Amino acid sequence: MKTELIKAGQDNIREAAERAAWFLNRDRIVAIPTETVYGLAASIYSEDALREVYRVKGRPQDNPVIVHISSMEMLDGLVAEIPQEASLLAERFWPGPLTMIFRKTERISDTITCGMDTVAIRYPSHPVANAVIKAAGVPLAAPSANLSGKPSPTTADHCVHDLWGKIPLIIDGGQCEVGVESTVVSMTGDHPVILRPGIISLEEIRGLIPSAEVSEAVTRKVRDDEKVMSPGLKYKHYSPECKVTIVKGDLESFSAFVRDNYRDGDYAMCFFGDENSIPVPCIPYGGRDDARSQAHSIFAVLRQLDSIGAKRVFVRAPQESGEAMAVSNRLMRAAGFDEVIL
Ligand code: TXA
Ligand code: MG
Repeated sequence: MKTELIKAGQDNIREAAERAAWFLNRDRIVAIPTETVYGLAASIYSEDALREVYRVKGRPQDNPVIVHISSMEMLDGLVAEIPQEASLLAERFWPGPLTMIFRKTERISDTITCGMDTVAIRYPSHPVANAVIKAAGVPLAAPSANLSGKPSPTTADHCVHDLWGKIPLIIDGGQCEVGVESTVVSMTGDHPVILRPGIISLEEIRGLIPSAEVSEAVTRKVRDDEKVMSPGLKYKHYSPECKVTIVKGDLESFSAFVRDNYRDGDYAMCFFGDENSIPVPCIPYGGRDDARSQAHSIFAVLRQLDSIGAKRVFVRAPQESGEAMAVSNRLMRAAGFDEVIL
């Protein structure tokens, strides 16, 4: 298949969005930038396009996708009710990197929810994402635009790598600002439960709703046959080809550990400024106390490791709470929960 690549800058957002809408309104799928990661979008009303999203990604048939809207009015008729606490969160964080799970109506097909009676909704803030949804005139179902299991794409180049020749259009909106996927919060119980940590942290959500909590399944390995609130938790995610190990310890003990264990093809992932103290090839992935900078580049660095043929990578562990929980969660999953505590 021929793939078009369109750069969407200030002056041609509308044109790019209209081209995307042309495909979306003809049962085709398109990669688009959002503020978190690139998404692979389909009209929620095209069963053919929805099925194509799962097929192209190689996505398991039991992992539902997120529905993206570009106004609060677009929510009408998609969800059975909007609990008051969800309105609070929407007012504060939408548009932005927050996804909320609601009870669905019959307008949301089983292909989107994989048969669940709930639907995930997100109102992105990225101007290109918004323009595309508006131009298409329908909500768009969009998982991250990576092949299933691979690190999410944060540049158009990443989408080209995974999807060239498989979809008709990739819109290049530059590098995603946030860099990790949205915070997913279930609003269907008696208090909000975070199913996937993102840059909107537990602490920030608790600032509005003190009873909010993180699902216990977020921080541990989930068995294949286990029933969890968010099917995404079951799958190996974000994994580069190389073997990832998280190493917890200060810079000195980390350096000694990688020096003692070094083999050809090994790399370290460290913080800015660590490079000179680490005696093996290393790639910094952000500032030590700056979770936002870590989130911004984490997936690009994991992909870079593959492109240079790294065999094993030892990662200096990020913090585990606050905004850093998003980074720590992605790394733990990339590592298949393999960690060394020094
Ligand atoms: O930032 C993002 O959320 C990006 C951009 C493109 O918007 N999208 C994204 O989609 O990360 P995806 O498909 O890679 O991740 C969706 C996550 C999965 O973990 C899935 O299991 C969960 O949301 N999910 C979707 N619908 C759900 C539902 N009804 N109940 C529970 N979890 C759901
Ligand atoms: Mg994904």
